Amino acid sequence: SSSHAEGAAVAARVERKWAAVAVAIIVLLVAMVVFTGLHWAMMPPSRVETIDPTTLHVSGEFIESNLGSAAETDGSVTVRIVAQQYSFTPQCIVVPANTPITFRVTSADVVHGFLIADTNINSMVEPGYISTFKTSFPESGDHLMPCHEYCGTGHEGMWAHVKVLD
Ligand code: CUA
Repeated sequence: SSSHAEGAAVAARVERKWAAVAVAIIVLLVAMVVFTGLHWAMMPPSRVETIDPTTLHVSGEFIESNLGSAAETDGSVTVRIVAQQYSFTPQCIVVPANTPITFRVTSADVVHGFLIADTNINSMVEPGYISTFKTSFPESGDHLMPCHEYCGTGHEGMWAHVKVLD
């Protein structure tokens, strides 16, 4: 009958419409996955290691005697820094020029900012996480290292500096 044929045509149209919607959803999901993957691939590999912020001074990598610059056997230098209201330890970080430098930074209390002037290092340091940044300094000189994340009443006075020696 004609009404049966009409019904089939409507059903086919509805089916095509939903097929198009399903394809659109799949395309959107794939685009989101690709975008997220690219986004993470381009992010510096920071905030992936965890640490107990309440025992930093007592044991482990960030005890006071272990802070500052340390030469590695491969010729690179690792710099360990603790941020806390309202200072960085150490206050003055000395590193050699033209050397691969890895900064490992954590916070003993709240979220702080970590920025080294004239480099692309500009991130946050969160309690409970070790932030890692890799760079090298092509020439000698001083770089300011201010906390740029509001962390309390003493925030404005929270800064250190990086001294690069030839
Ligand atoms: Cu620490 Cu602002």
